[in-house]
Amino acid sequence: MALFEAHRLHKRFGRRVVLEDISLAFADGRISGIMGPNGAGKTTCFNVLTGRYAPDRGRVVLDGRDIAGKKPHEIARLGVSRSFQMMNLFDEYTARENVAMALPAMRGRGFQMARAAAGIGEIRDAADAALERVGLAGRGDAIAKALSYGERRALEIGVALAAAPRILFLDEPTSGLGTEATARLAELIRRLKGSLAMVLIEHDMRFLFELADEVSVIHWGQVIARGTPDELRRNPWVQRSNLGKLA
Ligand SMILES: Nc1ncnc2c1ncn2[C@@H]1O[C@H](COP(=O)(O)OP(=O)(O)OP(=O)(O)O)[C@@H](O)[C@H]1O
Ligand SMILES: [Mg+2]
Repeated sequence: MALFEAHRLHKRFGRRVVLEDISLAFADGRISGIMGPNGAGKTTCFNVLTGRYAPDRGRVVLDGRDIAGKKPHEIARLGVSRSFQMMNLFDEYTARENVAMALPAMRGRGFQMARAAAGIGEIRDAADAALERVGLAGRGDAIAKALSYGERRALEIGVALAAAPRILFLDEPTSGLGTEATARLAELIRRLKGSLAMVLIEHDMRFLFELADEVSVIHWGQVIARGTPDELRRNPWVQRSNLGKLA
């Protein structure tokens, strides 16, 4: 059994069915990709997998245990982290403070407590280790809003990793990044590979196909294709779509 599995997820908003029947499996230490056109339901899928929305039907299984319907913080505590399509940092706080707030030792302590602890002892060391892991060594004292866009994206991943997840969901990590920052991000993800499972939603197919072990294509609320990057390059739907041309 894979580390994380979704079985036959169904989710609707009012009368609009967004996830029709989605099954996915993410193995430990691997990079899985999710692609598909705008509005296909990719982010909604992440929202269901990480507890923001309960599915109407279906199961979400982490390590053999059904976690569907649990609250986001409960799922996070079980080792599931995510980043958001829109950046989600505390802009006025330093990089180190942002990371410190996400450390397991700071859970439930509140911002001011985490902020005070970020400057001292083991919390400071743990926060700096998390920053180093994402290539931000030496940037701990920088205010988040003063970082470059690429550094902010790395910080977001640092925050997600600080919680010591077993699986990390990244929603369009390259969005807003230029060529150079995208290359640095690919490098970062490649370095992290093997230490946890990662799932990337991506519109940048070159980026995704270079990194992913396996890719699922979501369209009309279903997984319409799945395979290795090489298999998907030969997939007729992928070839017909703009996505295929880019890859
Ligand atoms: N909370 C919500 N309430 C109502 N409709 C929603 C909600 N969240 C998402 N939707 C709808 O679900 C559909 C799928 O949206 P979703 O954000 O999952 O697509 P996506 O595949 O991530 O697209 P993109 O590539 O543009 O990010 C859209 O039509 C969207 O408007
Ligand atoms: Mg989306």
